[in-house]
Order: sequence, then C-alpha cells, then structure tokens
Amino acid sequence: MGFMARSADIDMGKAKAGICASCHGADGVGLSPLYANLAGQKAPYLVKQLQNFKAGNRTDPTMNIFAKQLSDEDIENLAAYYESLPAGGKSAEKVEPKQTKPSETEPSKTEKNKK
Ligand code: HEC
Repeated sequence: MGFMARSADIDMGKAKAGICASCHGADGVGLSPLYANLAGQKAPYLVKQLQNFKAGNRTDPTMNIFAKQLSDEDIENLAAYYESLPAGGKSAEKVEPKQTKPSETEPSKTEKNKK
C-alpha cells in the first residue's frame, strides 16, 4: 500500500464505502449487472471516474448524486479501498498482496484500441 504516495487512507475509504455497498457490493463486486465492479480496479481510474461524476463530466443520475457528496479526500480514500480489494470479490478474508505482472494489467491495450 505504500506505493500510493498520497495520503489515501484505506480504512477511511472503507468507512465511507457503506453506502456504496448497497449497489457495488460489500466486496466491491456489483450486485446487479449494471453496477460496476470496483474491487481491484486501479485507484487513479476510480478517482478519475468519481471526479467526472462529481463534476458532471460523466453522467449517471445515481452516481452524480453520490459523487457530489464526496470530498476529494473521500474520493482518494474510496479509490484506495476498492483498489485494495481482491478483484472478483468473495475472497476478502485472504487479502494477500498478489504480484501481478504488468503485462496483465497494462491499460495500453484498450487505451490504444482505435476504432
Ligand atoms: C444506487 C446504486 C449505486 C450506489 C449507492 C453507488 N453507485 Fe457507483 N455506480 C452505480 C451505477 C449504476 C454505475 C454505472 C454508471 C454508468 O453506467 O455510467 C456506477 C459506477 C461507479 C463507478 C465507475 C466504475 C467504472 O468502472 O467506470 C465508480 C468508481 C463508482 N460507481 C463508485 C461508487 C462509490 C464510491 C459509491 C459510494 C460513495 C457508489 N458508487 C455508490 C450505482 C451506484
């Protein structure tokens, strides 16, 4: 967790995530196909999306409302919390920091995916 140089606080994020869990699941896995999985998602991406929702640059009636209630600090903490959860959820007890190969998580594949 030390690699997140900023003051993101996973425990604070967890404390804030209570409301989010009713849709995104206690383990960060969406409870319906329309509710995004957040577990294991990269924190900077989550921060960006939440800032976009907050600013109205990304429109979703539900998320716009929730994001507007979050401070920048809340957003950083929530992002750090969800990033710390195992992708796919369920195995929340055995949180072992897994070494993922950069090639598996590299965003360049999708980002450079021109139509
Ligand atoms: C009432 C249900 C609901 C609640 C509560 C809720 N969300 Fe969401 N969330 C959604 C939906 C639906 C989407 C998909 C929006 C879209 O289609 O653009 C979403 C999308 C997101 C995304 C973008 C995911 C992605 O992959 O782009 C993030 C991040 C997010 N929510 C975080 C949160 C956080 C943090 C909270 C608590 C503060 C929260 N949500 C509470 C329903 C909810």
